[in-house]
Amino acid sequence: MPEAWARRAHMDAAGYDAAVARVEADPEGFWRDVAGRLDWIKAPSQIKDVSFDKADFHIRWYADGVLNVSANCLDRHLPHRADDVAIIWEGDDPADSRKITYREAHEEVCRMANVLKSQGVRKGDRVTIYMPMIPEAAYAMLACSRIGAVHSVIFGGFSPDSIAGRIKDCDSRFVITADEGLRGGKIVPLKMNVDLALTSCPGVEKVLVIRRTGAHWLEHGGRDVAYEPLRDAASTDCPPEPMGAEDPLFILYTSGSTGKPKGVLHTTGGYLTWASWTHELVFDYRAGEIFWCTADVGWVTGHSYIVYGPLANGATTLIFEGVPNYPTTSRFWEVIDKHQVEIFYTAPTALRALMREGEGPVQKTSRKSLRLLGSVGEPINPEAWLWYHRVVGEGRCPIVDTWWQTETGACLVSPLPGATALKPGSASKPLPGVKLQLVDAEGVVLEGAVSGNLCLTDSWPGQMRTVYGDHQRFFDTYFSTYPGKYFTGDGCRRDEDGYYWITGRVDDVINVSGHRLGTAEIESALVGHHVVAEAAVVGFPHDIKGQGIYAFVTLNVGVAATEELRGQLVRWVRQEIGPFAAPDVIQFAPGLPKTRSGKIMRRILRKVAENDLTNLGDTTTLADPSVVDDLVKNRAGA
Ligand code: WT7
Repeated sequence: MPEAWARRAHMDAAGYDAAVARVEADPEGFWRDVAGRLDWIKAPSQIKDVSFDKADFHIRWYADGVLNVSANCLDRHLPHRADDVAIIWEGDDPADSRKITYREAHEEVCRMANVLKSQGVRKGDRVTIYMPMIPEAAYAMLACSRIGAVHSVIFGGFSPDSIAGRIKDCDSRFVITADEGLRGGKIVPLKMNVDLALTSCPGVEKVLVIRRTGAHWLEHGGRDVAYEPLRDAASTDCPPEPMGAEDPLFILYTSGSTGKPKGVLHTTGGYLTWASWTHELVFDYRAGEIFWCTADVGWVTGHSYIVYGPLANGATTLIFEGVPNYPTTSRFWEVIDKHQVEIFYTAPTALRALMREGEGPVQKTSRKSLRLLGSVGEPINPEAWLWYHRVVGEGRCPIVDTWWQTETGACLVSPLPGATALKPGSASKPLPGVKLQLVDAEGVVLEGAVSGNLCLTDSWPGQMRTVYGDHQRFFDTYFSTYPGKYFTGDGCRRDEDGYYWITGRVDDVINVSGHRLGTAEIESALVGHHVVAEAAVVGFPHDIKGQGIYAFVTLNVGVAATEELRGQLVRWVRQEIGPFAAPDVIQFAPGLPKTRSGKIMRRILRKVAENDLTNLGDTTTLADPSVVDDLVKNRAGA
């Protein structure tokens, strides 16, 4: 670890130890100080009020504090950095880019907030945002927060059905979208997808359509509203709504092991405190630096590290509309040079895809501006870590491998540059105040160097507060497996130095290119097709995506298993959920391995998918052990 890092870090090794000790000795004081980084209309006197126990289950942070998120992200920077760049926008086409100062961002957000009000949006209303990666996506989020509306951003890759499900789940009466998106030179028909979704959402009253490509869109009279004329007429003044710390800020849908996606709800004070603090600490952010997180705002990474964390800290955040391989596979590195990016945060799947192209596309760029690299979304294999470090960072940039979840709001486990010695592939140590524990399947606490299931024994300010509309599901999903603890769903190893190595999900969630998918969701899409009798989906190791999607499908009697049908089913899932959920492999199977009580034995399916056929384990408890022979014999690609 270069000396220079330790000298400049917000928190060096001694500072880390001191913070860990202080949060033990004086949790109230510690957490009060952390929240002090925000501008409060009324500073909180109540700090932490949490119980994970069933009888008295509640999670509240800074409960009597009052603040506004957009005022923290914009207004409070105006006195001293109004002319600093808040957002650098880099379009899909390298010829398209734009810089937006804090003053301009503030004006745009106020205009959009006033437009939302004029369309009937009120405090507490849920507003669905389905947008391309343009500055207006961030304005829309901040405009909602300004007036106390709760946003639900849906990733632009989701299908009309997925949009409809999310709109209905949270009773959203307002949608903000764009005419079209543009990614990798391809058009994404956003408005058309919304139109299709809304055929089953009669509750939606207004759709605000932002101009991106200028394409003509079909107007549904009385419902659809073009944004620009309203924006031009709107005032640039919109007083921020005072919000309670525990008032909802946003809902973000994420996949679980069962049922439909869950609306993860985050609140105002704790979430912003956590996004802002971790952005400064983990990335060692300094005023004036250019920060680029390559995620989409449709995922939590985009919420916390494109919009809320950086803007709360007065940073310059880069919003990139495109993809890593368009027009060429040098694009990331060219954007870094063009905008002199200092901190770059991306996903292992992108690195693995770019690694395949060799060092040439990287070497032809300078990357001299880079000083810190980050990784997020899935375990980073040491090979990709080392390539990132040696080729992209030329050996001079530390890598922060950040472990967290939609549910955790922002980072929980990460090295701190200058404080933590790095080990390739390990997210290293918990941030101060984050209390990890490893337990076995029965919940017995494991000590020392050991593998187990990763839990948190205590709360942190950025923790999700509920599953929207289903508080019982919140408790059942996260707090019932190991009573008194939050269970992450991840497996994890702790080494002899106390470093944590996340090994991946231990539930029926798979992580495909950093996108989280419930196997149940894909199965339900498959059985929704009229030829499918039954389906079981598992993940399998995939060189680029981390995990691929392997689907076992039993067809209805009399339906022929053809290549054409395979293609049809893949297209069907794309259309039902979104392109990123398309199965990589479909294996037709006359029967699935089931216990006598009818439960599918996924363990066996995983082994078949992984091609680990010598380790199928005990199959004698199956209702019909012979189905396994067929699965092995007809293994796709075997
Ligand atoms: C799951 C959460 C973190 C925000 C983006 C994804 C996996 C995430 C890491 C990491 C190993 C990681 C976990 C986690 N994961 N970061 N650095 N190392 N695994 O958020 O969609 O809610 O997914 O992503 O399995 O549970 P998400």
